[in-house]
Amino acid sequence: MTTSPVGAALDHLEASWDRYLDQLKALVRIPGVSAEPPPSEALRRSAEATKTVLEEAGFKGCEVIEFPGGHPYAYGEWLDAPGAPTVLLYGHHDVQPPGRPEKWISPPYEPVLRDGRLYGRGAVDDKAGVMMHVAACAAYLRTSGKLPLNVKLIVEGEEEAGSNSLAAFLEKYRVKLAADVIVLTDTANLDVGIPSLTVSLRGIAAVKVEVEAIAQPLHSGMWGGPVPDPVMALCRAIAELTDAEGRIAPKFWEGVTPLTAEERHDLEALPFDEHEFRAQAGMVPGAKLTGDPAMPVWGRLWRQPNVTIIALEARNIEGSSNQIVESARARVSVRVVPGQSPERVADLLVEHFRTRVPWGLAVRVEREATAGWWVTKPEGPAFEAAARALEKGYGRKAVHIGAGGSIPFVEPFARVLGGLPALLMGVEDPSCNAHSENESLHVDDWKRGTRSAVYLYDELSRLPKRK
Ligand code: BES
Ligand code: MN
Ligand code: MN
Repeated sequence: MTTSPVGAALDHLEASWDRYLDQLKALVRIPGVSAEPPPSEALRRSAEATKTVLEEAGFKGCEVIEFPGGHPYAYGEWLDAPGAPTVLLYGHHDVQPPGRPEKWISPPYEPVLRDGRLYGRGAVDDKAGVMMHVAACAAYLRTSGKLPLNVKLIVEGEEEAGSNSLAAFLEKYRVKLAADVIVLTDTANLDVGIPSLTVSLRGIAAVKVEVEAIAQPLHSGMWGGPVPDPVMALCRAIAELTDAEGRIAPKFWEGVTPLTAEERHDLEALPFDEHEFRAQAGMVPGAKLTGDPAMPVWGRLWRQPNVTIIALEARNIEGSSNQIVESARARVSVRVVPGQSPERVADLLVEHFRTRVPWGLAVRVEREATAGWWVTKPEGPAFEAAARALEKGYGRKAVHIGAGGSIPFVEPFARVLGGLPALLMGVEDPSCNAHSENESLHVDDWKRGTRSAVYLYDELSRLPKRK
């Protein structure tokens, strides 16, 4: 009896999970935090280690790609399937800062398995995404000696810092990266075990703001009253960003494309359990859900704008005393949705703080890089192939979901490469704590995702080629 290449690849995976998990753990040990300014020794090591993993998997033309003032990417390809379509795979090897060390049950860069989850910074976001494709490709190459289609794998090194070299990268590699379809593995499943294809992303606009009132802290009894408090002033401007419902102020809704009847129907058809949602978010008892009460929660998360105060600084409680402090600072980000201009929303944020901080205080506002939203209609042979592959890999029908997060690459990538279909399928889940302490990967979902990738390459090998 002969086994098909798909069967052989799947058998190989079942016998080799530990080997690929070990490679994943080795990547997690490297603290490649892209928020640190380039050049970063850790990101260089991370890119080199990723390149080595690609070489070991059997990819060819492996290289580390660098841009001045950016963090390095890793790249590998396998192009020996003449006549077959080409898939471009995407993941990122950089990670978010670890946060507060004392909050980690086990240290962020020492990967450990507990209760079926692999803990560590980057374990799920996005080293698991990278290793999914590495393992799936290696499984074919180590059994059949070939892949059913041509593969290009790009592993970005500065996604978590807003992809600053993206424009330069696309300009330089547009031709090299030509493909028939892209698969991006950096998103979430609706829940553990539910294979999900992401069809929309929010974008982001952010500012840093500093409010200064006085030259040095002052005794609050001797001066408080007539002398303005910069913390209060900043808080007043911040408070105006939302209404009593926690909904972002009307001016930030400019351009929002309403859901089509079909999109709304799809949202409402998705399972949603408020109790479970609260538990997964870890909300305290009694806390209300915020936002537009007329919109289902999934719609609020995926298709409505939202503001988050990502940092707020004035004076630490410890060591504080009865003083008016001299200044206060905040970082504020707005998730933007299909139809909106992230640049325009950034302008509105700048204007908001310039005009809404009261009492004539000195205000400095600095814009951060923006990222665009993305939305697709999941129709056509590539999406059908993805749905079949996910169903086979997870043993359950795939759903279409949106995402509240952002991936700066997706929209420009798909556009520059000629509007090719983009399949977003990842293994983050509601309990993964991405960006927070105790980030973890649900290992069985990663295995299901990797099996799906094996099926997907096979499915996509029969895709009609784009002209
Ligand atoms: N993997 C996430 C994005 C994501 C998370 C998409 C969950 C879908 C579901 C990505 O690594 C990320 O965190 N992106 C940043 C982008 C920002 C730095 C421009 C984000 O969303 O904050
Ligand atoms: Mn990610
Ligand atoms: Mn992330």
